Amino acid sequence: MSRDNSNDSKSRLTRRHYVAGAGTLATVGIAGCSGGGDGSDGSDGGDGSDGSDGGDGSDGGDSSAELEIVHWWTAGGEQDAYQALLDGFREEHPDVEIVDNPAPGGAGSAIDTVIQNRVIDGNPPSTFQIWPGQALTPYTDEGLLEDIGESVWDEEMRDAYLDGVRNLAQPAGNLVAVPINIHRLNNLFYNVSVLEEAGVDAADIDDPQGLLAAMETVATETDATPMAHQTQAPWSSLQMWESIFIGQQGVDDYQTLIGGDVESLESEVRTSLETLAAYAEYYPEDAGSISWDQGNNQVIEGDAAFLHQGDWAAGQYGSAEGFEFETDWDMVPFPGTSGVYQSVIDSFVFPTNNPSPDETEKFLNYAGTVDAQERFNPIKGSIPPRTDVPMDEFGDFLTRQFEDFQNSNTQPPAIAHGTAVAPAIQSALSEVFANFNGSLNVDAAYEGIRDAF
Ligand code: GAL
Repeated sequence: MSRDNSNDSKSRLTRRHYVAGAGTLATVGIAGCSGGGDGSDGSDGGDGSDGSDGGDGSDGGDSSAELEIVHWWTAGGEQDAYQALLDGFREEHPDVEIVDNPAPGGAGSAIDTVIQNRVIDGNPPSTFQIWPGQALTPYTDEGLLEDIGESVWDEEMRDAYLDGVRNLAQPAGNLVAVPINIHRLNNLFYNVSVLEEAGVDAADIDDPQGLLAAMETVATETDATPMAHQTQAPWSSLQMWESIFIGQQGVDDYQTLIGGDVESLESEVRTSLETLAAYAEYYPEDAGSISWDQGNNQVIEGDAAFLHQGDWAAGQYGSAEGFEFETDWDMVPFPGTSGVYQSVIDSFVFPTNNPSPDETEKFLNYAGTVDAQERFNPIKGSIPPRTDVPMDEFGDFLTRQFEDFQNSNTQPPAIAHGTAVAPAIQSALSEVFANFNGSLNVDAAYEGIRDAF
């Protein structure tokens, strides 16, 4: 696939205006309480999803019985979580052959081009991983996703989901996606021994500036890298900037920002960029050539102190040998953001012109069940969007996250993970932070952010 092709496809997909919708899906909604489970295993999709003809739009065609899934879960513990999901699906539907087709790259950095080209060419996979909310809009604008409001979202499933998450699955009014998890983005993970050696108590770090001081102390007192950050791809810096901004200015200003009014926040945005630029001194020497999970490995190995990352990082700790929560690693909300549960959600969709309508429907039905979400989320490092998933197998860390979620005041969406702003804005911002990673030029970054909206 040539570059030219991909640019072309992108502009075809992004030719409409997104700005009108930006920021309107601005929160996941009130953290719901868990029903605590009623013993239901929720896997009622069963083979009841019989003989769909693909619904309108997907002409059905010959169902190939092969279910092709495109996703980016190949890193850290993500691969294990994905496999656990497939295991559960196979138990329900042993007849369906799964064609696993990963597009590796953190935060979907490699999936867009592949998917957009295939969907536009009328040659989509059966389903693919995508963030609900704004990321869906290029597809819904062009009518490229099936309405699954009838075939998948039965009443039982609608009732079971958190309202805010279900709403993100219907950016154009009709339900087109099945969300499967809720990650938190504003985490500061750390290696317990490294912080002890440095004499730093994470609970005492009050704000993003305080984190800078803590990193300075780590640098002076230990041999460890203070912040295990990657700059190979821009999304990790974009997301850390989001957390710094919220930590310094609060969520109201963040909502104004994602609503597009950057100019009214010029000095606030500049301050957050200056803080991010100051952090860069404390990144690993190889920051420009590592992936997020390689950075996280440095925390696991005791070669680095802190990591700002979504709680998929905790999924990786789960799959590491002998690296235990609280004794070896721990997490505090990113300084200045306690009470905030910045959410990152993944979902699967039913592209039109579907090569395997029946199998796709079965898979989406399954992804929406208690069984699927109970298998997937504990390994992934996320909490379920259904309110009736028993939480007893989620372990101490996710139990704490779940409590934080329920006690949170607000759950704003993330820019770097597609829910908060339209893809055109997100990709412009990614470019800004790709440049910023190299130049640390605050003026240029401010102007880039202003222009991106
Ligand atoms: C996010 C995605 C997560 C995780 C992360 C790192 O965008 O929602 O599930 O995969 O990227 O790649």
